[in-house]
Amino acid sequence: MRRLFGFRNPAHPLQTAVPAHQKTASLRARKGGRPIAALTAYDYPTARLLDECGVDILLVGDSLGMVVLGFPDTTHVTLDHMLHHVAAVARAKPQALVVGDLPIHSYATPAQALETARKLVAAGAEAVKLEGGIRQAEKVRAITGGGIPVMGHLGMLPQRVREEGGYHKKGKTPEQADAIRQGAQALIDAGVFAIVLESVIPETARILSASLPVPTIGIGCGDHTCDGEVAVITDLLGSYPWFVPPFARPETDVAAATRDAVKRYVSRVTNS
Ligand code: KIV
Repeated sequence: MRRLFGFRNPAHPLQTAVPAHQKTASLRARKGGRPIAALTAYDYPTARLLDECGVDILLVGDSLGMVVLGFPDTTHVTLDHMLHHVAAVARAKPQALVVGDLPIHSYATPAQALETARKLVAAGAEAVKLEGGIRQAEKVRAITGGGIPVMGHLGMLPQRVREEGGYHKKGKTPEQADAIRQGAQALIDAGVFAIVLESVIPETARILSASLPVPTIGIGCGDHTCDGEVAVITDLLGSYPWFVPPFARPETDVAAATRDAVKRYVSRVTNS
């Protein structure tokens, strides 16, 4: 499959030659097979590096509001912010699928959802993601009906963090698990190719993943409970040390390496 994604399209400045629907079909076919590795990316060099490492999906998540723009949560992110960062990631022409988040207040109606999705695609996204289940199904249908692939997002919904008073685990009771399942079914009926499950307890994530026909991509759901995983790149790299979610699994400590390098630089310059 990596080979399949390996061609560049000289005619289009932003996207690879493999059509978005072919990429999403390949990812969908991974259901129950080789797990999907997704990471967030917000800029050109990071997108290139992640793509060179074989990441399947580059999610330009609205988490950029916190880890790039310094807001307290994702509710401050605007469509202009998203377009700016989607375009930067798309300039890397990655083989990975570029997914752009619909920010809060940009998909109040099906017509607005489609218009926003089209703007993200014009900026270089190959698919979009939005948060929520049953109440978003008509919006998902409008976007997929317009030919744009959609990824769902259920469980903890960061755009609702203020109403919910924090980041809480989901799917803890049979009723909560059933509500997520119903939301997933509504999204699947509306045509999503995959669903992010965020902060769903492992047992529920495992049961949902086993029963849903599209890949589930987990974050904060425990190990090997979903068909793939997504992580926020700064959590993986340890480059945003001021807030680290409890489920983050840093593989390195870029914050410490940066501080060391900058201290050496300051010392070299000021002591000369
Ligand atoms: O915005 C984001 O980075 C996300 C992930 C947490 C899935 O939605």
